[in-house]
Amino acid sequence: MLQNTHLQIVSDQTETAAISMKNFSAYFGEACILSDVSFDVPSRGVTCLIGPSGAGKSTLLRTLNRINGETQTASFTGEVDVLGKPLIEGYPDVTILRRKVGMVFQSPCVFPRSISENVLFGRRDKKLSKTERRTLVETCLKDAGLWSEVSKRLDKPALNLSLGQQQRLCIARALAMTPDILLLDEPTASVDPVSARVIEDLLTRLSSKMTIVMVTHNIAQTKRVADHVVFLCDGQIVEAGAKTDMFSRRSCDKTRTYLTEEFCDC
Ligand SMILES: Nc1ncnc2c1ncn2[C@@H]1O[C@H](COP(=O)(O)OP(=O)(O)OP(=O)(O)O)[C@@H](O)[C@H]1O
Ligand SMILES: [Mg+2]
Repeated sequence: MLQNTHLQIVSDQTETAAISMKNFSAYFGEACILSDVSFDVPSRGVTCLIGPSGAGKSTLLRTLNRINGETQTASFTGEVDVLGKPLIEGYPDVTILRRKVGMVFQSPCVFPRSISENVLFGRRDKKLSKTERRTLVETCLKDAGLWSEVSKRLDKPALNLSLGQQQRLCIARALAMTPDILLLDEPTASVDPVSARVIEDLLTRLSSKMTIVMVTHNIAQTKRVADHVVFLCDGQIVEAGAKTDMFSRRSCDKTRTYLTEEFCDC
């Protein structure tokens, strides 16, 4: 049986957590997918969610911008606060939540439109002038590390980009919403190692401006990118803490086994 205490991974106790889960459980029908999960995510830095397949990592991530809520059989107990407000009552309009909490999926989800139109997709409001739109496209593509590769073909179809470029375009599109929190579910799983490193560097840079929560199966990547690590197994948190602690002798036996052998016997 796993121990599941409320672990604080906020480094400075006076720092406000961007996300706080307390005794959170998630169900699909009768099946309990996440059980009594409690942890805080600091407002700066990269928090990596790791754990074996089926552990509930994506379910946890999707909870945070209420994608699971769209599944009829989904139900929840416990408390989740996002940016100091309850996830449900604090955001009666889910689009407000999703503006603050952006999401990037494992497979790049690029629309059959131009590169510019993809970046501006969530900002299709008429309030932006032509100049503002152009500036926003340039800023977001620069922040996503894609500008130099696409600046001369902004009106060309986004689907012609490589997978790694498409994934960075998805990040640019999420950034165009100026989110406070960016959630990424295995964002480098479908890209080559060079593109993966570009995305990792990008996330490290962005993490000084916003909260980054990333699911990854890649332990080496966790070591490179994470400031904080949450280790989930079988729907429960095994351990959560600063990366330096998790990768040290201070972590529990199960964590050390998983981090060295990528194996968990929970
Ligand atoms: N919509 C759904 N309805 C029923 N069960 C679901 C649903 N979504 C996920 N599950 C179940 O919840 C469990 C956790 O799934 P989840 O996708 O969160 O795992 P994961 O840790 O992200 O795994 P992986 O590393 O393979 O992506 C699995 O047993 C999965 O079958
Ligand atoms: Mg998953």
